[in-house]
Amino acid sequence: MRIAMIGTGYVGLVSGACFSDFGHEVVCVDKDARKIELLHQNIMPIYEPGLAELVASNVKARRLSFTTDLAAGIKDADAIFIAVGTPSRRGDGHADLSYVFAAAREIAENLTGSSVIVTKSTVPVGTGDEVERILAEVAPNSGAKVVSNPEFLREGAAIEDFKRPDRVVVGTNDEGAREVMRAIYRPLSLNQNAPVLFTGRRTSELIKYAANAFLAVKITFINEIADLCEAVGADVQEVSRGIGMDNRIGGKFLHAGPGYGGSCFPKDTLALLKTAADHETPQRIVEATVQVNDTRKRAMGRKVIKAMGGDAHGKTVAVLGLTFKPNTDDMRDAPSLSVIAALQDAGATVRAYDPEGVEQAKPMLSGVAFCDSPYVAAQDADALVIVTEWDEFRALDLKRMAATLKTPLLVDLRNIYPPAEAKRAGLTLVGVGKPK
Ligand code: UGA
Repeated sequence: MRIAMIGTGYVGLVSGACFSDFGHEVVCVDKDARKIELLHQNIMPIYEPGLAELVASNVKARRLSFTTDLAAGIKDADAIFIAVGTPSRRGDGHADLSYVFAAAREIAENLTGSSVIVTKSTVPVGTGDEVERILAEVAPNSGAKVVSNPEFLREGAAIEDFKRPDRVVVGTNDEGAREVMRAIYRPLSLNQNAPVLFTGRRTSELIKYAANAFLAVKITFINEIADLCEAVGADVQEVSRGIGMDNRIGGKFLHAGPGYGGSCFPKDTLALLKTAADHETPQRIVEATVQVNDTRKRAMGRKVIKAMGGDAHGKTVAVLGLTFKPNTDDMRDAPSLSVIAALQDAGATVRAYDPEGVEQAKPMLSGVAFCDSPYVAAQDADALVIVTEWDEFRALDLKRMAATLKTPLLVDLRNIYPPAEAKRAGLTLVGVGKPK
């Protein structure tokens, strides 16, 4: 199959590289000439484990290429994927679809055959209809079909998620288009037995939002249960295990923590609420989730202050982990931003360490001292706070930490460390949803 991928952002680049690794011939197109130039030099515009190697090997095999020339890129393509950004529109929370529509128009203007046009970007219900309208207006005789094919990739595990998905969702009622999509995903059905779920286009668009909203609800639910655990002397990790062993609930996404962040859950839950409001069908559970999560992030800063005795003035706090989760350099809506703001507002000085996120974090965090290692950050600090569970924080030398800190206090917002281990090292440990 010949595939064109419009947009070499996170989703486009990972999907393009993985499709080429399946054996398809893939051309990735982006307007940003600098990005394409860097990709030609095998320099990735994003941090994703394994991506540079995957890109390099498929470029070498001549199955993957990059261009700024959309017309050349889509020529003779069996499928043209739109994987451009859909940021939250400033002011109203709606997904900004201007990049999607601009791409659709440009594709329509340059279509040479009856390709299948696939939206991979996360787009509100009905966007496929609009893309189809643009197509009908600009290229009325093209015979091209518009399909929805949402992605379910987690940052940091995107290649694994792409190659070993729980399911692939394809939204179109057109049999010819389904055949093309079946052929594109055939390597997955053959090797992994991954089910391809065919639905209508609007249903497929909604599945994406419903999936992310449900996961956000699940995390927020366990976070509130964690608060209750602290109040009644129960252990949230055991509660998670105990409820998760029920297959109807499932054990994943039940890790209590400082609240969800990232580029997907916050944006997609808001966009779902906007769609719901437009159709006068309120989604109250999702509304509550968004609200609870927003307050939680700052509340985690107050939790640290409480652990330090209730006063942060003149104190120094060492923060480990700034990105919204490990294995990414993404700082969007990261809980660390709110935790640090709460600490600084209360008069604390913050020293921080992150393995990959510092460059992205610097412009977002003023007054923070960025350090080269967890131990440098902890030097003479009144508390050590783990905000993001990078692997390198799982094997800290806790004895050395206890000796480095001014006050041997560890606030572990990801529950990495068992209390006994911290105690042995001489640290006072405060976790999330743990009995005192
Ligand atoms: C999420 C979804 O998991 C993907 O399936 C989806 O494709 C993607 O959004 C998207 O829409 O593009 P991602 O945002 O990369 O992926 O990261 P997750 O691993 O889902 O984590 C999101 C946030 O939830 C992080 O801040 C993480 O720390 C938090 N989280 C996750 C918890 O606090 N507890 C958990 O048990 C799981």
